[in-house]
Amino acid sequence: MRYQTPKRRQQRPIAACLLLPLLPIVETPIHEVTDVNTIDFRSDTVTLPTPTMRDAIFRAELGDDVYHEDPTANRLQRMAAEMLGKEDALFVASGTMANLVAVLTHCESDERILLGSEAHMHYYESEGIIRLVGVEVRTLPNDAQGRIDPAALEETLWQSDGPPINLVCLENTHMRCGGVPLSAAYTAKVASVAHGRGVPLHLDGARIFNAAVALGVPAASLVEDVDSVMFCLSKGLCCPVGSLLCGSGEFIALARQSRKLVGGGMRQVGVLAAAGIVALESMIDRLADDHANAKLLAEGLAEMPGVTINPMAVQTNIVIFEVQGGAPAFLAAIAEQGILALPVGPDRVRMITHNDVGRGDVERALELIRGVLQRGNGEQAAT
Ligand SMILES: Cc1ncc(COP(=O)(O)O)c(C=O)c1O
Repeated sequence: MRYQTPKRRQQRPIAACLLLPLLPIVETPIHEVTDVNTIDFRSDTVTLPTPTMRDAIFRAELGDDVYHEDPTANRLQRMAAEMLGKEDALFVASGTMANLVAVLTHCESDERILLGSEAHMHYYESEGIIRLVGVEVRTLPNDAQGRIDPAALEETLWQSDGPPINLVCLENTHMRCGGVPLSAAYTAKVASVAHGRGVPLHLDGARIFNAAVALGVPAASLVEDVDSVMFCLSKGLCCPVGSLLCGSGEFIALARQSRKLVGGGMRQVGVLAAAGIVALESMIDRLADDHANAKLLAEGLAEMPGVTINPMAVQTNIVIFEVQGGAPAFLAAIAEQGILALPVGPDRVRMITHNDVGRGDVERALELIRGVLQRGNGEQAAT
């Protein structure tokens, strides 16, 4: 990429921008979270490492991971591969980097990747993927369960106009579709369509363990048919940093080179991997508590005036609902009460439960939100 002076940037054609989805929503706005009474539902990424993780970080055995010599990173990668039933795994800095490295490894520039219209990779990552890998992005509509229609996929892969589509991606759980888990059977169906055309399937499994816990199955069974899968340690699993990309031995060897290409070789990365080992050993089963708290939150919200939500649809830790009067006014009114959440549309609000909000916090938040809506604060602020 060439540095452009501000003058040159102004002259850039607008067409490239039209390829991208509208990005009106900053995913992580900055808040001053100084009050200990704040209840932060913005994301499970706000979770802090547990005392056991801090201890493991302190004691981690280290080496240079670029030379494959960090014993803690090596152990984490072996654990991740085993838990997902893949031959190998690679530690990377973030979920975004894991998806980017996956696309870099699967595709040549001038090819196309196929994403769901509501996918995180489409909404928040496609600019990086387009600019850094050089691929184009094609989308198919996501239904309310975060699925793309396998028949529409078949049709799209069949049409050979334009650059070839050389990667299909799914997301499990599906963040913008309310955290719904995709079943192994559905993933197998999409894989069989993609593989039938010789196209690999990548899974953005940022929250794959939430899906596994919600469906009561091993995570490996949900990714059996995908060629590569990434999951995040830094969301509900509470690590400070890190994601793992998993796949065949050959794929991961190439992904290691792609990671180097984007500056992702992190030397004594065992300080981060140590927390990941604690997460995989002890933070997965407790995700069920986050799911129960999300259900409680959804059921409470469903009874409130001006809120539209189907609590039955909430299966994991993500709660998305509509508010009368618009999301910005509602969010401002609840923020005054110390409750933080994010907008995912003009009238849509997202709340995510996690290790740092307990059942008592959810009950207190419901009481405060009820007060806000009964006083009509959320709506008045919008008018
Ligand atoms: C579904 C999904 N995929 C990928 C990512 C990107 O992860 P990161 O923030 O670690 O880059 C996120 C982040 O929230 C996500 O929700």
